[in-house]
Amino acid sequence: MADKQNIQWFPGHMTKAIRKIKESLRMVDMVAEIVDARLPNSSRNPDIDRLIKSKPRILLLNKSDMANPNVTKMWVKYFKSKNITAVPVDCKSGRGVNRIMPTVMEIMKPRLEKWQESGMTGRSIKIMVVGIPNVGKSSLINKLAGKTRARAEDRPGVTRGNQWYTLEDNIELLDTPGVLWPKFDDPEVGEKLAFSGAVKDQILDIELLAVRLLEVLAKSQNQQFIERFKLQNEDLSEYTPYELLELIGKKRGMLVSGGEIDTERAANVLIDEYRGGKLGRVSLELPPRE
Ligand code: G4P
Repeated sequence: MADKQNIQWFPGHMTKAIRKIKESLRMVDMVAEIVDARLPNSSRNPDIDRLIKSKPRILLLNKSDMANPNVTKMWVKYFKSKNITAVPVDCKSGRGVNRIMPTVMEIMKPRLEKWQESGMTGRSIKIMVVGIPNVGKSSLINKLAGKTRARAEDRPGVTRGNQWYTLEDNIELLDTPGVLWPKFDDPEVGEKLAFSGAVKDQILDIELLAVRLLEVLAKSQNQQFIERFKLQNEDLSEYTPYELLELIGKKRGMLVSGGEIDTERAANVLIDEYRGGKLGRVSLELPPRE
């Protein structure tokens, strides 16, 4: 799967994206990096720290409505230990979005004071939004900018096509200038991105993916999963993940001619229900142990 993704991402693409981001970084005071709260590590661009360097940053753990809140708390703590301020948000409903600007102000405080001292009053804070595809960048901008229309970049000598939004509180938001890629070289990362829906199904073996997801769900004894598939009376540890997939198909009456279980259909249903948030709030990765 990682190879398939690589087809669309040859070094030329990466060079171009890096160039665009570097150019835009010079124009902003701060970066809002957005990741998927269910997989904050796998949904990050592997080169982002090197790119952003010491530019102030807020990390938005988006889709926190779908992640286990206790695990999300662990991630916030983990990032804090790395000197990164992370804020869980849900850009679909808007929950947590109102915490973004106060946190931005807090992070920018030392710079704002410097600006004040040097007489740069009224200077706006320019923030660039970055993230890999599907993490919710457009949703975030919609929530923050609302009906504000983007204005085309008109400053001389600047990359064309940059989209700026002027928000209240003297803040200007720059829509992501280029598409960032996830970590291709790690198949586990590819799998997690696929669970989350960030990678297209056509390039995946859906049954293999379902089996992997079942490993996670069975291990975490996820109650919503157990109830949804009526597995209350089963000892999940007695089943291999593939047998669990068959059991799910059987429980849902998914049979093909000859009475065989339609595991492909069962896999599709399981993945769809996970992506739709129907199996509860499941985080796919824990912070690394230090
Ligand atoms: P992108 O610009 O980074 O590519 O992401 P985008 O905002 O397009 O969001 C990708 C998908 O994730 C969208 O779903 C969007 O609704 C969903 N999404 C974004 N933020 C959140 C969140 O905080 N919680 C949840 N549960 N979902 C979120 P879609 O199925 O592609 O479109 P639609 O459902 O909006 O029609």
